[in-house]
Amino acid sequence: MLVLEKHAMTDEIEKLVEKYGKDRSSLMPVLQEIQKKYHYIPEFAQQEIARVLDIHPVEVYSFISFYSFIYRQPQGRNIVRLCKTITCDMAGKDGIVKAIERELGIKFGETTKDKRITLEFVNCLGMCDQGPALLINERVHPKVTPETAVQIINELR
Ligand code: FES
Repeated sequence: MLVLEKHAMTDEIEKLVEKYGKDRSSLMPVLQEIQKKYHYIPEFAQQEIARVLDIHPVEVYSFISFYSFIYRQPQGRNIVRLCKTITCDMAGKDGIVKAIERELGIKFGETTKDKRITLEFVNCLGMCDQGPALLINERVHPKVTPETAVQIINELR
């Protein structure tokens, strides 16, 4: 990361802490805003958030590690999460996996080269009676088929 980029990120974090307040409860909203922009939390941001909030960097690291929806590695602009839990598994999850992986040419756990899409498995999304279920960014797609899954994926920009 270039020095200028580091300065810009520090400014950004200081503004966010000003907006949310300088205490631990600001950690989640600050991380969410950084992630929304960069699609992950760069290491430098982790250090700066800790410095500006006056907490130990290990605390920020542990917080990020605890939440599976906060990333330490760059992710795609769209995150496609497929439920791997038993009900969705029995409802045809494997067919969805094959169709999506074939369409994108990547495996679950990977990101497309153009950073358009990251694929990942998640546990139950609370839509067990309507599986297989996909969560794409913040939107749930119930009862997907291999065909509708591919169609939905291809509409992502
Ligand atoms: S098992 Fe898939 S949503 Fe619950």
